Amino acid sequence: MKKLLITGATGSIGKILVQKLSARGDEVIIFTRNPESAKKKIVNASKYVKWDFDCMDAWLHEMHGVDVVVHLAGANLGGKRWNDEYKKLAYDSRIISTRSLVEAIKQVERKPKAFICSSAVGIYGSRYDEVLDENSSHRNDFLANLCNDWEKEAQKVEALGVRRVSIRTGLVLMKDEGLIKQLLLPFKLFIGGPLAGGRQWFPWIHIDDIVGIYLQAIDNLNVNGAVNAASPGIVQMKEFTKTFGNVLNRPSLLPVPKFALKLAAGELGEYAVMSQRTSVEKIIKSGYKFKFEKLNEALVDLLR
Ligand SMILES: NC(=O)c1ccc[n+]([C@@H]2O[C@H](COP(=O)([O-])OP(=O)(O)OC[C@H]3O[C@@H](n4cnc5c(N)ncnc54)[C@H](OP(=O)(O)O)[C@@H]3O)[C@@H](O)[C@H]2O)c1
Repeated sequence: MKKLLITGATGSIGKILVQKLSARGDEVIIFTRNPESAKKKIVNASKYVKWDFDCMDAWLHEMHGVDVVVHLAGANLGGKRWNDEYKKLAYDSRIISTRSLVEAIKQVERKPKAFICSSAVGIYGSRYDEVLDENSSHRNDFLANLCNDWEKEAQKVEALGVRRVSIRTGLVLMKDEGLIKQLLLPFKLFIGGPLAGGRQWFPWIHIDDIVGIYLQAIDNLNVNGAVNAASPGIVQMKEFTKTFGNVLNRPSLLPVPKFALKLAAGELGEYAVMSQRTSVEKIIKSGYKFKFEKLNEALVDLLR
């Protein structure tokens, strides 16, 4: 049985991860901005700790005796237009919070054995057909720099003798949430189609697999450093929307041009159409077996 401390446990990935950990008998302490609301969302944690990453003295003692820290928290990048204020929130809620958790780990005598931190495939920028593994270079745009700084802060924990994993997450597909929810209506109205040309590689991952990869990172001592987390069955956007339409028995018709996406979603629209042809050999070599390698099977599971 492990004792885990998880931030951002109330989010899309966290709530399923906590369910799986509790079901197998692990103890989970949740760090949250709102313990009362977290108790309603997640019933099986052992503690709900009020977490303000700027006030370490208030929660430092909770770090004692913890085996693994999982850091998922961060202001949602899909929800709002990316103005300067929101970019600062997105940055601080990931980078400053990671710095503060690593500082707390430094201060406790019995340190956790592992620090598992989120990151994103956005670190690679947009790369057309180039195959991207964990050694590929980073790019220099807002999201890439954010991920790079996030990973650098997490990496500092290694100097304390703690195993670090940064999970470079692709776009997570889950029932009735995120992209699936946004695409359902246009397809049901027969107006869905490929976004911005459709040639770009789209690093999707089924929610069960991203949670599975977190579990693999928690349990497997051989998982270290940056890890790409997308499906091995990566496809180009035109294939994605075609399969989406097929599963719904709707045609994938009208391409949505890039300028329209930018108008609708601001800078986020720009990021939504990036091409990231990720390789996931590293996590497969660690022994992880994907549940959903085929897009069609993932979408049938999520849409029907
Ligand atoms: N889902 C994806 O497709 C995807 C793709 C790439 C990377 N990621 C990364 O993976 C992590 C988990 O993803 P997710 O989809 O589960 O995230 P999510 O649903 O947006 O939830 C993240 C959690 O972070 C906390 N949070 C929200 N705003 C915050 C703020 N301003 N300051 C501090 N904490 C805040 C919230 O927990 P409390 O309210 O309990 O504090 C929230 O439940 C995130 O860091 C995300 O960037 C996700």
